[in-house]
Amino acid sequence: MSIEIESLVYRFPNGVTALDGVSLRIDAGERVAIAGQNGAGKTTLVRHLNGIVKPTSGTVTVDGWNTAEHSIAQLAAKVGYLFQNPDQQLFARTVRQDVEFGPRNLGYSETRRAELVSSALAATGLTDHADAHPYELSLSDRKLVALAAVLAMDTPIVVFDEPTTGQDHNAVRNIANIIDNLHEQGKTVVAITHDMDFCAENFDRTIFLAQGRIITDAPPTEAFTNEPQVTAAALETPQILRLTQALTHPPTTKIKTFLTNL
Ligand SMILES: Nc1ncnc2c1ncn2[C@@H]1O[C@H](COP(=O)(O)OP(=O)(O)O)[C@@H](O)[C@H]1O
Ligand SMILES: [Mg+2]
Repeated sequence: MSIEIESLVYRFPNGVTALDGVSLRIDAGERVAIAGQNGAGKTTLVRHLNGIVKPTSGTVTVDGWNTAEHSIAQLAAKVGYLFQNPDQQLFARTVRQDVEFGPRNLGYSETRRAELVSSALAATGLTDHADAHPYELSLSDRKLVALAAVLAMDTPIVVFDEPTTGQDHNAVRNIANIIDNLHEQGKTVVAITHDMDFCAENFDRTIFLAQGRIITDAPPTEAFTNEPQVTAAALETPQILRLTQALTHPPTTKIKTFLTNL
């Protein structure tokens, strides 16, 4: 169930080149975070994984399938995708119906569907809101409904586009638990995040994108300690790593200043 991306270029009809030669392999069970400033091409990249977007040139292969040769419906059995904006993903009249849509469409049995829906609602803390209209909920809760809808599809690969943006501390911890759980089930997790602490704590591998290209692909501890690349990706080093760096290197004047400012 690997993902292989070869020399991927994507150009929007208006001529904007969003991806400019991306090659990448992700193996089954990996936890990969993608970071980079707005407009770097993160969303366009992950939308290739479930075939919403098809390459202008280059190839994207998911579990041996060239995405250009498969429909979104076919790819939905392999890749669950949480939209950056939940309002592009939700459409049903109740939370439960939105969460049920995926597993129903994938043809899962009624028993399996019921189990998946109730565990997805529980994992996202939405059990009590199952009968609410999604639009009665706040944007951050709608994002959790969209997340539950992805979990309920029980796909081997899950892709989250900015899952923690706008979420409070408890919800972020919950999302971290969900990622742990998916990892324990052997699933591949790919997430776009601006939250570098979240990234350092929950992922094995960090990819920085800048102007449609990969500029870093390394374990978080390495990625975030490479200051020129962190700067190029316009990111902040996570606090936890700044602290470890400060404690494991001989205390230079810069670090002493840093420590006194903590
Ligand atoms: N529908 C679109 N039409 C034209 N250009 C777009 C469209 N969506 C995104 N872009 C452009 O493509 C580039 C990459 O966007 P995106 O993948 O959304 O980046 P990110 O998710 O990293 O913020 C940006 O320059 C953005 O302005
Ligand atoms: Mg985006």
